[in-house]
Amino acid sequence: MAIQGNLNQVDDPKHQNTDITIEDGVPVSLTFGDVYFSKEGGWEESKYVFWEGNKIPEVLANGTNLPKTIGELGFGTGLNLFMTLHEWSKMENPPNFTFYSLEGFPLQTEILHSLHLYFPDKVVWTETLLTSYNSQLEKWKQNPKDQIWKTHFLHPKGKHTFDLHLYFGDVESCLDFFPKIDFWYLDGFSPSKNQTMWSETTLSKIRSHSDRGTRLATFTAAGFIRRNLEGFGFRIQKQKGFGKKREMITGVLD
Ligand SMILES: C[S@@+](CC[C@H](N)C(=O)[O-])C[C@H]1O[C@@H](n2cnc3c(N)ncnc32)[C@H](O)[C@@H]1O
Repeated sequence: MAIQGNLNQVDDPKHQNTDITIEDGVPVSLTFGDVYFSKEGGWEESKYVFWEGNKIPEVLANGTNLPKTIGELGFGTGLNLFMTLHEWSKMENPPNFTFYSLEGFPLQTEILHSLHLYFPDKVVWTETLLTSYNSQLEKWKQNPKDQIWKTHFLHPKGKHTFDLHLYFGDVESCLDFFPKIDFWYLDGFSPSKNQTMWSETTLSKIRSHSDRGTRLATFTAAGFIRRNLEGFGFRIQKQKGFGKKREMITGVLD
């Protein structure tokens, strides 16, 4: 299958429109030369790396019921959002969550909608959500300061809330809008293919939006990312990666 689609341009005029293609059923960025999610079970990998890698169930089981924040670098197709929403919805008595994310190259509707094809048994984009996302995207294209898309989900039991705040724009500027984060999902393509997502500025902003006990998880285990994160005070652990991947890293701010 080969679907081609343009990514929308970001507020920085240096960024060119870029193409994505579908390989083995998975969106691939031709600009970054990397996949949006794993070809080997994207949903399971997302859960393994970010939900379990951050030890979210354990932290919630041991802690208070205070609201929690997740910070994601690279919203992409929204897969990590839907995986998190799914896990949160299954919990009996979860705290309220706010999921902060950012995206410099928002994907076209057709690509987002195709998440249904990859994960037919999961709740992903609805028409209402897509309409709301597109309407904010259009506003942002008219006015780069109009860059936040907010939406809201209710727990099946009706008591708890899950808010999404997605900022359109470049990582280094969007991170300034994030509050203190409890769990980071570092998902900005491989460091060798996208330096900005892993730059010293980006990592220092991650640090300044973290508190003692803040956790992070990422699919990469690149040595220089590990060392740089340690330099910012995170205690980093290597662990087994998902599927055939040898390693990934998780961390906690001491
Ligand atoms: C691996 S994909 C994220 C996959 C995503 N979490 C998902 O669930 O589909 C990385 C994302 O980072 C975005 N990105 C790359 N460089 C960026 C930058 N400098 N600023 C903002 N977003 C960026 C890409 O457009 C892409 O959507």
